[in-house]
Amino acid sequence: MRILVIGGAGYIGSHVARAFLDRGYEVTVFDNLQTGLRENLFEDARFVHGDIMRPEQLRSVMQGGGYDGCVHLAALKAAGQSMLKPEAYSESNIAGTINILNQAAAAGISPVIFSSSAAVYGSPRYLPMDEDHPKEPENFYGFTKLEIERLLGWYDRLKEMRYGAIRYFNAAGYDVLGRVRGLELNPENLLPIVMETAAGIRSKLLIFGDDYPTRDGSCIRDYVHVSDLAEAHVRAFEYIRQHDKSITVNLGTENGITVIEMVERARAITGMAVPAEISGRREGDPAELVASSSRARELLGWVPKYSDIDTLVSSTWKMYEKYLHKP
Ligand code: UFG
Repeated sequence: MRILVIGGAGYIGSHVARAFLDRGYEVTVFDNLQTGLRENLFEDARFVHGDIMRPEQLRSVMQGGGYDGCVHLAALKAAGQSMLKPEAYSESNIAGTINILNQAAAAGISPVIFSSSAAVYGSPRYLPMDEDHPKEPENFYGFTKLEIERLLGWYDRLKEMRYGAIRYFNAAGYDVLGRVRGLELNPENLLPIVMETAAGIRSKLLIFGDDYPTRDGSCIRDYVHVSDLAEAHVRAFEYIRQHDKSITVNLGTENGITVIEMVERARAITGMAVPAEISGRREGDPAELVASSSRARELLGWVPKYSDIDTLVSSTWKMYEKYLHKP
């Protein structure tokens, strides 16, 4: 089986490429290396340097490539930035996806597994959030993901292109075997920021609010290990091929972790001080976001294996310790 992983040199994409390789697939990674990293390319995968904004480059990799499907993870993903630069997010996320879908349709590539986000839901109306929860994105990033899901629905109907829309909650952690070597640059998410603080790159961490109605006052999120996410992509691909049916699934663990719990566990596991200070709330942060993942469990038989707090923290620390504490 042959699979094209678009955005496969990125943080999640590289774990997805690894998961398909581990299952014996022939993998081609297509990436412009804007945020993707060369260190994330595996020797047993083919690499094509290209950009989703260039339809002719997509055409050249897709036509005659004999792909049994593709995974699309090439996107801008900073929710805060998307509110300041909507033009860039429309271009990369929406127009870039249209290029991919049009070229995939022309080359007869199906299914397309799409990296979507819990950001499509907006603030929770109820918890845990299932796939039928109202979709009211509160940032432009979430809007782009929702629009792409709608496009996928139409291509399914009009072009018989099957899709898997995978809505990630908070992706975290690194390959426990250390095979993904690139560290994300300028991370904006909690766990890498905690690790940069543990490693002394940052002098302190800001905890965005301790006055939320949660067990310790800090926000609760549903962190899911990136290798568990990756495994779900393989399972979604196989499910869609077998059933000739598109699917939309949440990926989360249903277990919320607070910011303070994450920081305390990081202190215990790294043995470092991790100085932290409570700051004001960050705009747009809901108190709690937790997924219902029963659909992924039922349809895909997906059970998270690495998403416990200790594995999340220790697999990430292994990366930061290795890169930042060289003698
Ligand atoms: N946080 C801090 N300090 C920091 C960074 C984060 O306290 O320096 C807190 C945030 O307030 C939040 C939690 O840590 O409560 C997690 O924040 P992240 O920025 O890591 O993640 P978000 O939950 O805001 O968003 C993530 C992805 C989005 C995605 C969303 C879906 O970054 O792309 O999950 O649930 F849409």
